[in-house]
Amino acid sequence: MQIRKAVIPAAGLGTRFLPVTMSVPKELLPIVDRPLLQYVIAEAAEAGVEEVIIVTSPGKESIADYFQPHPTIEQRLTANGEDDLLAKVTEAGNLAKVSFVIQHEALGLGHAVLMAKNAVGDEPFVVILPDDIIAHSPGAISQMVQVSEKMDAGVIAVEELPWEVVHNYGVVDADPVSEGVHKIMRLVEKPQREEAPSNLTIVGRYILPPQIFQCLENTKPGAKGEIQLTDGLLALLQDHDLFAFEFAGTRYDGGTPMGLLRASLAFALDREDTSEDAIALLREFQNRTG
Ligand code: UTP
Repeated sequence: MQIRKAVIPAAGLGTRFLPVTMSVPKELLPIVDRPLLQYVIAEAAEAGVEEVIIVTSPGKESIADYFQPHPTIEQRLTANGEDDLLAKVTEAGNLAKVSFVIQHEALGLGHAVLMAKNAVGDEPFVVILPDDIIAHSPGAISQMVQVSEKMDAGVIAVEELPWEVVHNYGVVDADPVSEGVHKIMRLVEKPQREEAPSNLTIVGRYILPPQIFQCLENTKPGAKGEIQLTDGLLALLQDHDLFAFEFAGTRYDGGTPMGLLRASLAFALDREDTSEDAIALLREFQNRTG
């Protein structure tokens, strides 16, 4: 079945990006000139997603504003013949149909996904975390859709990371099935290094069946009063297969200041219109590193 809908949780507090997130949602912070959200929506649209459901919270209205038409700017750019800029301004709204649901309190990622239950309905869908930015063509979601179709099951993106850092991530316990594909037995959230079943860490892309909603409804809040997506996935595993997939591409952590800086530099170096300036910038700063 085609994956037509994506859920993008964007109702978190963004504490790692304070103080800027006191008034600017983390999901609107830019890589070069586009917000994080736009990169993941473009990745979803490339994979055939037609409808994007963004989970936001009171106070994050600027996210919805971003996707509204901006007639004053558009008229000005049209009058000035600035077609390239005009295309940039209308790009976000043309990628997919975007709608919004509200999570009134940041009660966890699982809770945020559950808020999209009615909007998704009874079909498989993809969950995308907008602070995980993946650079590759074809995009990670396109790659995952292929695996999901082949295995006729849900798919979670994973990345092999050094053992020293696995305690910061969700990790899968999984058996290899084919190149880059592993059947998930168990998921462990932020395990101690000694207890980690593997160094395959979960990245923010999940293709899931609609039954996940029922699992989340039955999931009790964990230690911090939050409903974890991992706990819902563990319940789902009881009667649904899930596969971990090592996507091709580079993942950037847009959820931290240094991760976003790294992403910005990498994208600026890769983009034709900015690469020359980005190289000059790096050369300028090279002297400072001694
Ligand atoms: P994170 O845990 O990375 O985001 O959640 P956060 O909580 O906003 O950031 P920190 O940890 O305080 O710095 C990943 C994604 O899930 C969303 C976030 O907005 C982010 O896009 N999220 C998280 C929700 O929508 N609701 C929640 O209750 C928690």
